[in-house]
Amino acid sequence: MEGFKIIEWLGDRIKIIDQTELPHKEVFLELRDCHEVADAIKKLCIRGAPDIGVAAAYGFALAAQGIKASSKADFLTKLRPISETLASSRPTAVNLFWALERMNKVAHSGKNVSQIKAALITEAQCIETENDEANRRLSELGAALIQDGFTILTHCNAGSLATAGYGTALGVIKMAKEQGKKVKVYANETRPLLQGARLTVWELLKENIPVTLITDSMAGYFMNKGVINCVIVGADRIAANGDVANKIGTYTMAVLATENGIPFYVAAPMSTIDFSLSSGADIPIEERNPDEVTHIQGIRIAPKGAKAANPAFDVTPHCYVSAIITEKGVAREPYVEKMKELAK
Ligand code: MRU
Repeated sequence: MEGFKIIEWLGDRIKIIDQTELPHKEVFLELRDCHEVADAIKKLCIRGAPDIGVAAAYGFALAAQGIKASSKADFLTKLRPISETLASSRPTAVNLFWALERMNKVAHSGKNVSQIKAALITEAQCIETENDEANRRLSELGAALIQDGFTILTHCNAGSLATAGYGTALGVIKMAKEQGKKVKVYANETRPLLQGARLTVWELLKENIPVTLITDSMAGYFMNKGVINCVIVGADRIAANGDVANKIGTYTMAVLATENGIPFYVAAPMSTIDFSLSSGADIPIEERNPDEVTHIQGIRIAPKGAKAANPAFDVTPHCYVSAIITEKGVAREPYVEKMKELAK
């Protein structure tokens, strides 16, 4: 993102832009320990699967710097609760657990405490850099699927804010524009927390990409009218069979796209694929506070005492997914075989 970093490592703290305040205010937070990082992830100040992974890696490295330990064994014992605190922040985005696994591996394979502390900072920086490179590569591959003049529907926010990098779904759209294609975007507002209205529209306006904001319930109307040429979304976790967990409402978009003969693409780095899960049925779905549904931006819209449900993600069965765009290549059915090949 032009002008500032989504996550900035400052040695003794991490600086982030508070995404809950966007688009009205650009507020920056400085996080000084793993509890503050986990809390910022829980509250969605930092959000989006790859961004959560990068933040967790920096949070891990940051907390590790403060450990006073007499030996490597003592250091590793003190690291465990730090890792657990970060891991407990949100359950669905697999990038969080993937990043923590990488950090733990580095910690265990290090020689001594001071060497490990330095190696953890390097590893977090690597995770951030590799993520941006993966974003750019998958965006190039994805842009090949976008024709000049396309109007693209997207859901939630899968741009720089969600990745601390170039972006995934929005990365593909940005790349298509950089290649000289004229593209337009329809952005779903994405109830209940409005990541589409607040963040996607904000990012696309900054990129000078024409964007029309619609409510989630208008998507079928525009698809049926022939306005939308393809749908592109990001992902929080993809099972080995190609089932995709993403922001609640994604499944609805996929079914509507299929019904209307519109390609439905998922853009995500390989770190979002969870090969340990054979299907999406095993993906843990975060349940958030029902107040996020009964209220909009703190203002109550439902009567007091109203019961509300708030699953934050849904799973789109792979039969509705036209292609999964990764930095290693574009996978199509049969996903089990194709994604295994990409992972080699
Ligand atoms: O609850 P959020 O805002 O973290 O949900 C984010 C999404 O669902 C994104 O679409 C997904 O993480 C992909 S981000 C590249």
